[in-house]
Amino acid sequence: MHKTISVREVFDLEDGSEIELVGWVRSKRSHGKLVFIDLRDSTGVIQVAVKYGLTNSESFQKSLEAKIESAVRIRGKVKKDPRAPGGVEIQCNSLEILSQSLDDFPIRKGVGLKFLLDNRHLHLRSPRVGAIMKIRAELIDAARRWLKENGFIEINCPTFITAAVEGGATLFKVDYFGKTVYLTQSVQFYQEAAIYSLEKVYSLQPSFRAEMSRTRRHLTEFWHLEVEVAFADLWSIMKVIEELLYNMVKSVCEKCREELKILGREIKPELAEPPYPKIKYAEALEILRRKNIELRWGDDFGADEERELSLEFDKPFFVTHYPRESKAFYHMPDPENPSVCLNADLLAPGGYGEIVGGGQRIHDYNLLVERIRENGLNLEDYKWYLDLRKYGSVPHSGFGMGIERVLWWLLKLPHIRSACLFPRTPARIYP
Ligand code: 4AD
Ligand code: MG
Repeated sequence: MHKTISVREVFDLEDGSEIELVGWVRSKRSHGKLVFIDLRDSTGVIQVAVKYGLTNSESFQKSLEAKIESAVRIRGKVKKDPRAPGGVEIQCNSLEILSQSLDDFPIRKGVGLKFLLDNRHLHLRSPRVGAIMKIRAELIDAARRWLKENGFIEINCPTFITAAVEGGATLFKVDYFGKTVYLTQSVQFYQEAAIYSLEKVYSLQPSFRAEMSRTRRHLTEFWHLEVEVAFADLWSIMKVIEELLYNMVKSVCEKCREELKILGREIKPELAEPPYPKIKYAEALEILRRKNIELRWGDDFGADEERELSLEFDKPFFVTHYPRESKAFYHMPDPENPSVCLNADLLAPGGYGEIVGGGQRIHDYNLLVERIRENGLNLEDYKWYLDLRKYGSVPHSGFGMGIERVLWWLLKLPHIRSACLFPRTPARIYP
C-alpha cells in the first residue's frame, strides 16, 4: 500500500481534479442524504461531501457506518467551495473503510484534562498536538542547521553516570548490576572532554531531574540541547545563545505558519532578535525588591521569582553573575569579584523564566579542586573531570537549553507537558 497524495496537497489542486485520498475520520455530520466527513491525515483536515446519488449506495452506507477515527479511502473530485473550511471540499465518488474503529473514540469535546493526559496516546491525533509536535521538530531542525553551519559537531553522550553534574538532590538512582549509578542531568562534563578533540560540540538528548516539583515548567525527563566551546568566555557563549535561539524562532516563524495558525499564535522573529538585555544577579534582586519580593543574597531564584522578574521584559534576557553559593561547583568565579560566577541564565519574558542555563567553566586544576571540596563533594568522583584540567586546559564555556521550555514559552502553552509527545512529570509516567 502506498499513499499518493496528502490532504495539504489537495488544497493546491485544480477544481475538478480526480483524487484518491487515505486518512482518518476526524468528525462527521449527517444531513439525510448528505454526509460530511472531516478527513484527517498528518498534513491537515479536509471536508469530504458524501452525497447519495453522486456516490454509489454502498459507499454512502459505509459513510454512515464509519466511526470516528476509522481509516478510510476516498475517491472523488476536488471542488472549490467558499463554504467549506479552507475553501475546498472533496465530492466523494466512493468510500472504503480500511479499518473500522472498534469502539466510539473516547476523546470528545468536554472531557477533562486528566482524561486527555491518561489517553495521550489517542489525544495526540488532534491537530493542535500535531501542530505543536511539528513546531518542536522545526525548532530542533533549525538548531541543528545553525549549529552545523557554524562549525559545531554533534556528539552523543552516555545517559548512565556515576557523579552529579547539577547537585545530588535531583539525581535518579538506577541499579546497575548491583551498583548504584544515576541518570544524567546534563552531558556537560562529557562535552567538556570532547572539546579537547572537537573544540565546538553539541548534543541533543534526554536529561533527567528527580526533584518533586509541581510547577508548570518542570519535567522529570526533558530534551536537552547542550553546547560547549573551547577558547570561549562568558560573553562569547552568550552570543552563541542569542544567535542560536534567534535562528530557531525565525525558522519557526517562516516555516510553521499553518501550525501557528492552528494554535492561534502569532509570533515574529523580532521576539527573539539579539542583542538581549543583560542584568546581573544583584540587579535582579533589586528589581524583585521593588516588587516587594525580598530575597537574601545567595538565594537562587525559583519559578515564582523568575516569573515576576520576567514580567518586566518583553524579550529574552540574561541574568548573569550569580553568587557562587547558588550555582554548581564548576562555574568560573569572576576574577574581579570571586563571590560571583561568570554564569548566565537566559529567561524568557512574560512570566516564563529560565530557558537556558550556562556560563564559563573553571579551567584551572587547583581552583576546581578547591570548589569541589567547598561543595562537600568527593574528589574521587570527579577524577576524570579533573584530568581535563591537567593537559592543555583552556578557558571554555557552554550552556544547556531545554527544548520543551522554549516551546512552552514560544507557544504560550499552559503547562510544559504539552510540549512533549508523552510527558514525564513527578505525577505522570503513563502512557
Ligand atoms: O540550568 P540547568 O540545570 O543547567 C545544566 O544542566 C548545565 N549543566 C547545562 C550546560 O551548561 N551544559 O539546565 C539547563 C536547562 C534549563 O535552562 C532548562 O531550560 C532545562 O535545561 N531544564 C529543564 N527543563 C524541563 N524540566 C526540568 N526539570 C528542567 N531542568 C532544566
Ligand atoms: Mg539552571
